[in-house]
Amino acid sequence: MKKVSSIKKIAINTGGGDAPGLNAVIKAVTISALNRGWEVVGIREGYNGLFLPEKFPDGGLINLTYETVKDITPLGGTILGTTNRGNPLRFPMKSANGTIVEVDRSDEIMAGFRRNKIDALIAIGGDGSLSMANVFQKKGLPVIGVPKTIDNDLEKTVMTFGFDTAVGFATESIDRLHSTAQSHSRIMVVEMMGRYAGWISLNSGISGSADVILIPEIPYDVNVVADFLNKKFEGGKNYAIVVVAEGAKSKEGSTSVIEKEAGKSERLGGAAEKFAKDLQPLVDKEIRSVILGHLLRGGSPTTFDRLVSLRFGAAAIRALEEGHSGIMVALNPPTVDYVPLDQVSNRMKFVPIDCDTMKTGRDLGICFGD
Ligand code: F6P
Repeated sequence: MKKVSSIKKIAINTGGGDAPGLNAVIKAVTISALNRGWEVVGIREGYNGLFLPEKFPDGGLINLTYETVKDITPLGGTILGTTNRGNPLRFPMKSANGTIVEVDRSDEIMAGFRRNKIDALIAIGGDGSLSMANVFQKKGLPVIGVPKTIDNDLEKTVMTFGFDTAVGFATESIDRLHSTAQSHSRIMVVEMMGRYAGWISLNSGISGSADVILIPEIPYDVNVVADFLNKKFEGGKNYAIVVVAEGAKSKEGSTSVIEKEAGKSERLGGAAEKFAKDLQPLVDKEIRSVILGHLLRGGSPTTFDRLVSLRFGAAAIRALEEGHSGIMVALNPPTVDYVPLDQVSNRMKFVPIDCDTMKTGRDLGICFGD
């Protein structure tokens, strides 16, 4: 492991889907490192800036200074760019016979770190990006991970940054659907991102007073939902709000996958429309569906996300200074802890179906489709 005295230059990268708070982490990492006399560069678009030079005629690295980061805390997105396509460990390439094969290009990236005299990496990402960072760590590069994702599906941290902003927007969106659903006596089905975990749907659904919440952790039965809603309508309610996680699955069916290609993560979508189609013959109300999708990833981070992002960024540099590597900074209130990347890589944190928030939903009379 490199000692602090030997660190002169560090790199930061942002990988996977963008999340509000990325720029705040970049700012805290940059200023904390510059204040220790270290040089800081940002790698463009995940690791692309290091191993796909043809994409970046003006250079794959961005020099990060006090000036570059001074105004970026409230900005959504990432000033470095990101990608959730073309995993460099399984990079899709055309073989001699024209078929697509997956190639491990991690050694080219390691060579890029050496060529640019980068002594350590702060990798900001979700499970995919942090698993990649763990590979570089095992190949000898000191690495500190920072947990990012609106989905909140990372293990060993109470929360990822980006989640609070996404849930806030999701809740406000559900609030807005109540009045139009009521005015038209309709069932509004709203689809939320979250991949295979139901955190965004559960938290916003309960906070936004949804009637039904369908999450991937609980396979649903459309007949159960129809009976539940019909009873509500018989009791006098004239509309309903159904929250559907993009990864929700019926008791018989699979998730709604709209794309699966080499080197790419599965793309989910269409769960709300599918559910609406299945529900329509079973209820006597008009149904409309709406997808929040990428709107959940946009906007300025909430105070919570800004603060936790700044805390994560500063803690990552302290961890490096203390001589750590192969760890992720993690929220463990009231503090920020360090947890081994090995305990985070290739794992997912699902909603425990007996957790307090689930029990709250059931006590409030929300239907989970089971
Ligand atoms: O992981 C974050 C996330 O926003 C998921 O909730 C969603 O399934 C995915 O990214 C969508 O990514 P893309 O940008 O490829 O549409």
